[in-house]
Amino acid sequence: MHREDFNILNQDIIYFDSGATTLKPKVLAETISDYYNNYSANVHRGDYDISLKAENLLENSRIAVADFINASNNEIIFTSNATDSLNKIIFGYFLNYLESGDEVLLTLSEHASNILPWFELAKRKNIVIKYIKLTDDHKVTLENVKDSITDKTKVISIAHITNVIGDVRPIKDIIAYAHQNNILTVIDGAQSVPHMRVDVKDLDIDFLAFSAHKMCGPTGLGILYGKYDLLSKMQPLIVGGGMNGSFSVDGEISYNEQPYLYEAGTPNIAGIIGFGSVINYLNNIGMDNISKYEKELRDYAVNRLKEIDDIIIYNENSESGIIAFNYKDIFAQDLAIYLNKYNICLRAGNHCAKILKEEISIKNTCRLSLYFYNTKEEIDKLVEVLKNPNIKNEII
Ligand code: ALA
Repeated sequence: MHREDFNILNQDIIYFDSGATTLKPKVLAETISDYYNNYSANVHRGDYDISLKAENLLENSRIAVADFINASNNEIIFTSNATDSLNKIIFGYFLNYLESGDEVLLTLSEHASNILPWFELAKRKNIVIKYIKLTDDHKVTLENVKDSITDKTKVISIAHITNVIGDVRPIKDIIAYAHQNNILTVIDGAQSVPHMRVDVKDLDIDFLAFSAHKMCGPTGLGILYGKYDLLSKMQPLIVGGGMNGSFSVDGEISYNEQPYLYEAGTPNIAGIIGFGSVINYLNNIGMDNISKYEKELRDYAVNRLKEIDDIIIYNENSESGIIAFNYKDIFAQDLAIYLNKYNICLRAGNHCAKILKEEISIKNTCRLSLYFYNTKEEIDKLVEVLKNPNIKNEII
């Protein structure tokens, strides 16, 4: 769908690495270059037209992002990426909130960004990290969450969709159950917000992190959503210009209102404004259309890959556009390098989910990750290249 919107697709490439970052539609570069060419002033400090224009457009982007996930404008904080958002949530809120002996529930299939900040927190505070048991399909169920909760559990921090297994977690039920037990929830939405409708109010999410670059937006821009009351208890981790109302020689500081006290320094103005145009672009396509199309592509890809006896799929029963697989007796990275000879781009390795190997007993996989601009013809090409009877000779 909408391939004509992507200049890069005029090159002879098949791009299956949207889980790492998506391709960018023309509208993004056009909006960003308009800012740099025509009104490249700073925001929140100018009294002249081009600064006011930049500020208005930046705040319009905040409104667009808030509407996109059904949040309020003052619940949207612009960060550098999803990793930055998660660190700000974990150190800005949970460092103070958690007490010695409190338990945090994660899963083995989380991305490093939703594990390492918790490990660091555990070094500073005597908290206990536990992992929710997964099913044979490596999925999270409400039953397994219930089995993992104790009266010490204070937070569940999980991806909505994981970046290797690609399972869509039943977060609405998990969050409802968590709240009945006074447990807060942190949702890593990096692989879900770009691919499906995510409504933070309907899901009752406490904190959500995601990245612009995985949804046709610019790199270097992340989103931190938090419920207003929770955000108001967060500590700013970075202090300086733009986030203070006043300060005096004796060290007294008054902070700006939220979200601005969490956005110290000149923000990524061009990126934020560009992201606003991308949100409009995605809204015009329709998130439900995107999800439906990706599901169809996924089913097609799984069925076609299953035609090849030597292909092992690790997440056949997942629901998202992420397919983790290996070719029997070929190292994942060697296969990715082989595919590159045919201009097919996909990621191989552990995909930053470095403890997933404890769950799936394999360290490295190839990952096909789809987006709305992929086609069945591209999947056919992949399958044709994988069916090459000389594949092993070409790799050696
Ligand atoms: N988190 C990104 C991925 O899964 C980089 O590839």
